[in-house]
Amino acid sequence: MNYHKFDVVIVGAGGAGLMSAMQLAHNSSIAVISKLYPTRSHTGAAQGGVAAALGNLEEDSWKWHMFDTVKGGDYLVDQDAAEVLTREAIEAVYDLEHWGLPFNRTPDGKIDQRRFGGHTRNFGAGPVRRSCYAADRTGHMILQTMYQQSVKNQVRFFNEYMMLDLLINEGQACGVVALCLRDGTMHVFHAKTVVLATGGYGRAWRITSNALSCTGDGMAVAYRRGLPLEDMEMYQFHPTGLYKVGILLSEAARGEGAYLLNSEGERFCVRYAPTLEELAPRDMVSRFIYQEIAEGRGIDGKDFVYLSVAHLGKQKIDEKLPDITDFARNYLGVEPYYEPVPIQPTAHYAMGGIPTDSDGRVVVDERNTPLPGLYAAGEVACVSVHGANRLGTNSLVDLIVFGRRAGKHIAAKWLPEADFAPLPPEPDAYATDLVETLLARTTGETEEAIRSELRDMMMAEVGVVRSEESLTRAQRKLAELKERYAGIRLMDTSRNFNTELMEVIELGNLLDCAEATIAGAQARKESRGAHYRTDYEKRDDVRFLQHTLAFQTSTPGQPALKYKPVVIGEFQPKERTY
Ligand code: FUM
Repeated sequence: MNYHKFDVVIVGAGGAGLMSAMQLAHNSSIAVISKLYPTRSHTGAAQGGVAAALGNLEEDSWKWHMFDTVKGGDYLVDQDAAEVLTREAIEAVYDLEHWGLPFNRTPDGKIDQRRFGGHTRNFGAGPVRRSCYAADRTGHMILQTMYQQSVKNQVRFFNEYMMLDLLINEGQACGVVALCLRDGTMHVFHAKTVVLATGGYGRAWRITSNALSCTGDGMAVAYRRGLPLEDMEMYQFHPTGLYKVGILLSEAARGEGAYLLNSEGERFCVRYAPTLEELAPRDMVSRFIYQEIAEGRGIDGKDFVYLSVAHLGKQKIDEKLPDITDFARNYLGVEPYYEPVPIQPTAHYAMGGIPTDSDGRVVVDERNTPLPGLYAAGEVACVSVHGANRLGTNSLVDLIVFGRRAGKHIAAKWLPEADFAPLPPEPDAYATDLVETLLARTTGETEEAIRSELRDMMMAEVGVVRSEESLTRAQRKLAELKERYAGIRLMDTSRNFNTELMEVIELGNLLDCAEATIAGAQARKESRGAHYRTDYEKRDDVRFLQHTLAFQTSTPGQPALKYKPVVIGEFQPKERTY
């Protein structure tokens, strides 16, 4: 066992982790642990932009942005946190600009801004240009910019180390245990502070925009250590994934004027959302597509519709949407200059996650009690600023605002007071046992079928629409998969770069995240945002205007659920029309 000691250990080197690191680099000893080389983190896949009410092209205000975020989230948003998000978005974007992020520019040199779904002027009057962007590679640019800054500021990276356990002792987080993928050695990182910034778990679904690495590692590790997961039933499907492949085709296309067309060549969104049309929030547009397909208006009677950009012209496509049009060419052999692109909703983003307050502190119960020394930021966390449905471009702003706030809180408030909590006896015991048991087992099934059945089940039963029957089937299937997983065996028992070992541990994490998702969805007998139940089609504010907290129990598939109130501010829940 190898031992390291730092003031702060940040797990995850995407936008949230790097943003936290940047606040701490000068005054404390910090380590960033990442399963990947940092610039391969999934932040790099974010395309269309980062929302901030800069008002560079037309009047805008953070208050309108806050309203849109609350309404877009179907009022499950904590409004105190939404105010922080939308106010501080502006400074956080200027931080990125000052660190060198190459945003697209207006003719007079300001950051250019484009339209995105659900973002409006004057409390819903019509679309507004709020998304700051770098072509259709905004996340990639954020990652490159922040990684360069982190290296310049001498942040210490442990690349290709996978976190297996979170250490908590005497009521305080005191470190993590990680496997070095290169040589299979176990490492204990003793710290005063742990920041979890490990991203989402979209790989639980068959069709997903998420990278192979998005396996819910931080959520699962926290859940197993007795911490709750909040609102996991709120999982977003992005309307425009490349057909059968799932890769994201940015909403920026629709922001720039692209259409969605059914088999009759009709712009069907106009019928469902007369004001915002294709720019209605994602939960709605995904359901519009689902409805068109269910009623037989998918293309050629199949399960996809078209995204058409051809009328935007070659120059605009090349300047504003170069990457996504290349995806269509490379993966489907379609030429977007002339042909419409087949798309279908794709599993994209977890609104739920590890509960935190708006300083990034992890909270452990329905009274929002913080766990000293533990922070979370980015998609792994649930602040909750996205409620039941996140607006496009509010994810990049979430990770820069709350990554920044977590780092600042640690530097200003936590570290000056904090001391190291002692490590528990045999701190690596759980992680070592996990790995050694897997490497030693010689009988049992291998991972492929369990992974594949999980992804198909989540797609079929816990997708854009759900029902009591589908969720009951999901719960049964999940319990079966967990039982089979308990006896799983590896084909590769070597220590060096054993990617099968990593994937099997990731699969265990996906199963735990799926467990909390299914249980929360089953108990929430209403439709709200991304959680649409065919047997309870209406939102029920009397019973369910509250956050779900799922705690793991010893019975597979059956977490204990508790609830906590939503923070309502000046925007009272209303029916959502667009
Ligand atoms: O459509 C997109 O570019 C995705 C953005 C987001 O998820 O925020």
